[in-house]
Amino acid sequence: MAPGTPDGTPRQAIAIGITGASGAIYAARTLAALLERGVHVELIVSDYGRRLLRDELGETATIENLLPFLASKYGGDIGAGTINLHSNRDLGATIASGSHGCGGMAIVPCSMKTLAAVAHGLSRNLIERAADVMLKERRQLVIVPRETPMSLPQLRNMVLCAEAGAMILPAMPAFYQQPRTLDDLADFVAGKILSALGFEHSLYPAWTGRAGEK
Ligand SMILES: Cc1cc2nc3c(=O)[nH]c(=O)nc-3n(C[C@H](O)[C@H](O)[C@H](O)COP(=O)(O)O)c2cc1C
Repeated sequence: MAPGTPDGTPRQAIAIGITGASGAIYAARTLAALLERGVHVELIVSDYGRRLLRDELGETATIENLLPFLASKYGGDIGAGTINLHSNRDLGATIASGSHGCGGMAIVPCSMKTLAAVAHGLSRNLIERAADVMLKERRQLVIVPRETPMSLPQLRNMVLCAEAGAMILPAMPAFYQQPRTLDDLADFVAGKILSALGFEHSLYPAWTGRAGEK
């Protein structure tokens, strides 16, 4: 059960799985945006996910230092939300069960290895199991794969996940909003993830019919 807000209303809970694909910035931006909205995040990070956070975002981007890192990069509003960090080895965690009221999950970024495991229902670790729970409970599962080029098995695994009800949301930022920085690109992908999970946001400007209008 997600902890309540100061006025006693329950927080919305979303699971985030971070795996060892390139694109740690998408995970960081998604996490910060959910926290800014007061969401309770059930967070699972694979071993290679932890490595990629540091490799791509710097030595301060450790799991132990995650909240201060997000606050320094995105601002102090992230304190509106809460995080419950799980071990990826803990298959007895709350979110391993469909009885937990977690409303949705995003795996961002999603490695081809974890994609394959979700496609085939392996549930060997908590990210895979929590994703399996989302599918069997018919809740929103957003998979953000990152690989290029892709093999036929990888393409087929995406189809299997989509057929099982997941949304395949490739880490594929657009350029019509005229991004100027890496953060602009991350905002776009994070905004797509938030939309898929049912959150309003202003992470990128709505399309107006004219490129570059902000
Ligand atoms: C620096 C680095 C970058 C990687 N980038 C990707 C990637 O973009 N996509 C991918 O599918 N795997 C990538 N991998 C390989 C995965 O990390 C590897 O398959 C790992 O076993 C994934 O495990 P996990 O899904 O449990 O995190 C990368 C590995 C390293 C060390």
